Amino acid sequence: MQKIKAALLGYGTVGQGIQEVIHQYQERFRLLLGKEVEIAAVLVQNPAKQRDLPENVLVTTDFEEIITLPDLNVVLEAIVGEEPALTYLRRSLNKGIHVITANKMMFARHARELLETARENKVHIGFEATTAGGTPIIRTIDQLLQVNRVEKVEAILNGTSNYILTAMNDRFIDFDTALTEAQEKGYAEADPTHDIDGTDAFNKLMILSQLIYGEQPDWLNVRKTGINSLTEADIQHAKQENKKYKHIGVIKKEGNTIIAEVSPVLLSSTHPLHHIDGVDNALAITSDIVGTITLTGPGAGKLPTASAMVEDLVQIFQKEHAEFYEKISEKHAAV
Ligand code: HSE
Repeated sequence: MQKIKAALLGYGTVGQGIQEVIHQYQERFRLLLGKEVEIAAVLVQNPAKQRDLPENVLVTTDFEEIITLPDLNVVLEAIVGEEPALTYLRRSLNKGIHVITANKMMFARHARELLETARENKVHIGFEATTAGGTPIIRTIDQLLQVNRVEKVEAILNGTSNYILTAMNDRFIDFDTALTEAQEKGYAEADPTHDIDGTDAFNKLMILSQLIYGEQPDWLNVRKTGINSLTEADIQHAKQENKKYKHIGVIKKEGNTIIAEVSPVLLSSTHPLHHIDGVDNALAITSDIVGTITLTGPGAGKLPTASAMVEDLVQIFQKEHAEFYEKISEKHAAV
């Protein structure tokens, strides 16, 4: 059986999730792609750490060893921060290797460049996992809302913030206890500052802007307020009025100007995002033909994020397969 040869960059919560899912669902890859997926190498920070990986997997701290692997087909990237991730992904794309990333901070800043590099090298870059975790919103917007024009998106884009707000609202627990729970469940970033100050939601909103409008607003014009601006009293007071605070990112276009903002918003019980609780993320997308669609699902965590990445993988290799057969049939038609 032919294999798709993959390398995994990063072996934290998400990296381990990808490895588990790829290991467990080979039968589905065989059915969908006619191939198995082999994780041939894993890039780690500490090679001495004990890991549950097959013996034939190359475990290395050196990206050179990975990029020079013969016949590498795809790089799955789950490392934190802009660099060295950006350099690794640029190199992979320029070498004709497909890329799948979960790195929202890096992709918010460099989406345009990486998408262009992928196009020039005739490879694909999957980024479903960057935004709304396991909820398939990227492909829904990109491929299923093509005739529609998206007028506005209101979204809950950080699972940790939503988990904390829900816990404080429903269980009356304090902010720090709720954050500790979110960390224990593997939702929060290694440094949760960006979860609670709105930066993570902001990055995801910028990725949505790139996808929907092909550009981003000037970041200096985007107001960004985190849930750390709320007190327990604010949350309980809202509850007495049958309202909830949710951390909302809004993006819309007014004329030629993209307007974006991330902030805690007091929602009445009739708002489509009012009942989105726990780690879930949600997008209320308003488009000119269909009206408002709400998409909801797990916004963070090991398996939801891995799910988005393996769905990207299958899409990419199904596309590659289709392109291959298209080329063959074009050749036949020309003969
Ligand atoms: N820390 C992020 C969140 C992980 O809580 O949403 C998913 O991007």
